[in-house]
Amino acid sequence: MTNQDTWPELPGYTDDILNEVFSHFQQRLNADLEGVETEDGREHLRIKWLGRKSGLLKQINDTYVQKTPPEFKKNVGHRFNAFRQSVEFELDPRKISKRTGIAVETLEQLGGGQSKKVVEKSVIDITLPGIRPTLGMEHPLIRTMQEIVRVFEHMGYSVGVGPEVETDYYNFEALNFPPDHPARDTQDTLVVARQEHKPLRDRLLLRTHTSPVQIRTMERQPPPVRIVIPGKVHRNDAADATHSPIFHQVEGLCVDENITFSDLKGTLDHAMKELFGSSVRTRFFPSFFPFTEPSADVQISCIFCGGKGCRKCKHSGWIELLGCGMVNPAVFEFVRGKQPAYDPKKISGFAFGMGVDRIAMMKYGISDIGLLYSGDMRFLEQFA
Ligand code: DAH
Repeated sequence: MTNQDTWPELPGYTDDILNEVFSHFQQRLNADLEGVETEDGREHLRIKWLGRKSGLLKQINDTYVQKTPPEFKKNVGHRFNAFRQSVEFELDPRKISKRTGIAVETLEQLGGGQSKKVVEKSVIDITLPGIRPTLGMEHPLIRTMQEIVRVFEHMGYSVGVGPEVETDYYNFEALNFPPDHPARDTQDTLVVARQEHKPLRDRLLLRTHTSPVQIRTMERQPPPVRIVIPGKVHRNDAADATHSPIFHQVEGLCVDENITFSDLKGTLDHAMKELFGSSVRTRFFPSFFPFTEPSADVQISCIFCGGKGCRKCKHSGWIELLGCGMVNPAVFEFVRGKQPAYDPKKISGFAFGMGVDRIAMMKYGISDIGLLYSGDMRFLEQFA
């Protein structure tokens, strides 16, 4: 068999015929290998058998494999591949190693004459150290948010979400922030550009708090409601150690018959004890939010000094943590058009909202909020 060989036609495609033909190829290869003694000779053989344009393998492929009728192709192709691997193993082991990732030296050590199957089986080195996959983990913010949500789930609350790009109506108007009301100034808002042609209530903005989901929830379902809403919010605040233009809140809403301020106090006191430990105390201060009346700020006894006074609580013994209040009847009036059951004469409710970032920072002793958004693995890996 030379490069000028003409190739006889196959008399058929039975197993016997194919076995004979391919064993004939193998014998030719063996004979060629026996006669080679120098590196040059080996290179010559490599080109003779594996040459891309007119190597014998290419010729065998062109003459037999390519021209085989489809119903026999599998049988012929299978034998051709085995033979090709045998040629490559003898003359160009690097080709096999590239495909299998098995070291060339190992292949060569195992020597010629062995079938490819044996080679593959025996070259897995079980003494090598394994590759340890790095495990993912929850971001400390998400973890904190889930912890808060879980506390309320245990009290029977369900969990809801709402859009981050919100309309002026849901973010402000329906929460009883009238247009131009000064209470809007407490939430420096990022608005979507070129909306001036729309009525104010339809203009889009990035929600400044999770409270709009209170309205969306009540519009969708009649009372009773017990829901918590975790989510991301945005404000046009300059970033510093305690401010970030993106942060997270967990909102809560409970509406039913006969819900009172005592229910609000009991619920939040229990939640704070669950989150920070049973020795934590809470106290409520009068505050103002347009969508609650009365409104309150909740403080917890300092988790660092137990209330004695330290640098963390500015020597007051207390840390302010969330806003809350009884749902303002004016808010119920906004949803009544869609859900008449929100009749403020028949039902009442409370709401609360807390910043997740501050809680995460307190829990994990993080001094700069920016770290939570930096994506710096050196920081994040500490929480794995
Ligand atoms: N949405 C308020 C804020 O971002 C927080 C808040 C206060 C939510 C009182 C409430 C609430 O639901 O009742 O400042």
